[in-house]
Amino acid sequence: MTRKRIMSGMRPTGFLHLGNYFGALENWVKLQEEYDCYFSIADWHALTTSYEDTGELKENIINIAVDWISAGLDPEKSTIFIQSSIKEIAELHLLLSMNVPLSWLERCPTYKDQMQQLKEKNIATYGFLGYPNLQAADILIHKADVVPVGEDQLPHLELAREIARRFNYIYGETFPEPQAKLNQIKMLPGLDGRKMSKSYDNTIALSDSPDVIREKVRTMITDPQRIKKTDPGNPDVCAVHDFHKVFTEEAHVGNIREDCIGGTIGCVQCKKQLAENIVKFMAPMYERRIKLLEDRGRIIEILKDGTDRARRFAKETMSEVYDKMNMLELE
Ligand code: TRP
Ligand code: SF4
Repeated sequence: MTRKRIMSGMRPTGFLHLGNYFGALENWVKLQEEYDCYFSIADWHALTTSYEDTGELKENIINIAVDWISAGLDPEKSTIFIQSSIKEIAELHLLLSMNVPLSWLERCPTYKDQMQQLKEKNIATYGFLGYPNLQAADILIHKADVVPVGEDQLPHLELAREIARRFNYIYGETFPEPQAKLNQIKMLPGLDGRKMSKSYDNTIALSDSPDVIREKVRTMITDPQRIKKTDPGNPDVCAVHDFHKVFTEEAHVGNIREDCIGGTIGCVQCKKQLAENIVKFMAPMYERRIKLLEDRGRIIEILKDGTDRARRFAKETMSEVYDKMNMLELE
């Protein structure tokens, strides 16, 4: 029995944090047990908004691979590859761009949003408009059945399906229509209670050492009304409590809650318990990271293997595409 194929990707824009883990990676790690998985380090996609600023791109690519593998992606089970090392994706992107109506791209909600939000970046470019088309090429070249994504990516998935349908209609059945699979997410705010995000500087990075984690948790803001340990606290306005819900055994979360409300646990102690639970949760990741970083050659090897595997598949799809389009392809 052949397994269904999964394809997904992330842009290598810097270190990953626990928000990325609970928003996406945790799902990927589970899915690799059941599906034939292709995970793309989408560096061309990163360029669509950061084309002026490529100084850290190489390092970011290595770092995201290290983040993924330490988080539990297993290169024996999943194919991990670098998008830009598979030129066939660019070919498919070009061919698809011949028949994707401009209006489909222009009315994509993420396009309109980002144009508003990233005004200072001058992303009124051809490449950025084509972002969902490039993503469709990523997905279709691997004939993905299922694409695990966050909610923000649903418009791109819908477009990929439309692009597949249009290609199939014009040139004959070639691409399966990829199904979106919404990531199961655990709600974890940032250290300051806002959304966890690099731009707010409120993250716990997957690469943070146990001591960095302890220090970050120590400085978390708690219920601001609480001054003395015996003041009754309100766990519902405290990010530490939200964190406990993710990292602490359920029965014990109830105790902490009662003790907070009753003024019988101090914030210092409450945070200490939390920090140790986070450290414990992340220990296997941290160990894998340390081991991996001892051997940079191994990281490159993993990426090479994955990219070779992904490329072989992409080449097959492209032969079929050229054939369906009735083009003359010389070797
Ligand atoms: N656009 C996606 C994001 O920003 C990343 C991505 C690139 C992707 N290629 C993909 C996701 C293919 C799913 C499938 O999150
Ligand atoms: Fe937050 Fe814990 Fe302090 Fe209550 S005791 S306010 S949950 S840190």
